[in-house]
Amino acid sequence: MRRPAPARTGHLSHARVIRAPPPGGTVWTVATTTLVKGARATRSTIAIKLAMAVSGFVFIGFVLAHMYGNLKAFAGHDSFNEYAEHLRTIGEPILPESGLLWILRLGLVASLVVHVSAAVWLWRRAQSARTVKYEVTKRRHSSLSSRTMRWGGLTILVFLVWHLLNFSIVKVNPAGGATNDPYNLLVDTFDVWWMSLIYLIAMGALAMHLHHGTWSALQTLGLTGTASARSRAKTAGWIVAVVVAGGYSLVPLGVLFGVITK
Ligand code: HEM
Repeated sequence: MRRPAPARTGHLSHARVIRAPPPGGTVWTVATTTLVKGARATRSTIAIKLAMAVSGFVFIGFVLAHMYGNLKAFAGHDSFNEYAEHLRTIGEPILPESGLLWILRLGLVASLVVHVSAAVWLWRRAQSARTVKYEVTKRRHSSLSSRTMRWGGLTILVFLVWHLLNFSIVKVNPAGGATNDPYNLLVDTFDVWWMSLIYLIAMGALAMHLHHGTWSALQTLGLTGTASARSRAKTAGWIVAVVVAGGYSLVPLGVLFGVITK
């Protein structure tokens, strides 16, 4: 028997016949989010998701490198400050002082603009595609990290603004001490318990964001097609989240527990 053609509405096939009807039987239709191949809107969604995945990987690269630098705090005052200084002189004399640092900063700002714009675009699109709210929301199959992507992302943005004021753009010493010595500023900052708490909470938000973000990016890149690939993608999400959040958290914890001192 010929299978009836799926019913299509707009650019997404919202209603699709899933089974050929038995003679005299009922045709069942279910809502799906299946994308229609080649549709213009589908292509733009894929392009935006790709942009999100690529900019996300740029951030993962950055946070891993930055974490490595922060862990130098365990090697002591001179080692940490030498590293901070080296960031400014790397690439000389081909590049001017702080030249590579500025290239990195511009790359990061560009990635941030792409990542946030893509998130807003996808969110607005999801809002406009669904004019009537679902009556029942099933949460059984979604993880906490997947449900908190927007709020988690916003929390990380707010943290980043505070973090840059604290250590980079303005340099605020919450303990009231000097700000011209990166290592001492770091120790002074985390000696204030509520500053450490803010950082640890932000690292929790970062872990959840990276956990789901890594999975999502691998899915966009088509790397979750089989059960074993899905399990690998999930493991990758866990590893990135635990390594990054755990590694960063070691520094405030190290100061709080007196391992990193002035
Ligand atoms: C416990 C966690 C963290 C610590 C202790 C820390 C520490 C620092 C320090 C000491 C600096 C100043 C470096 C310098 O001037 O040489 C800095 C800069 C910076 N951090 Fe962090 N950081 C942490 C987490 C993060 C996270 C999670 C992000 C991103 C999501 C981040 C993004 C940045 C950026 C963009 C800069 C500015 C670099 C520049 O000067 O252009 N940091 N951080």
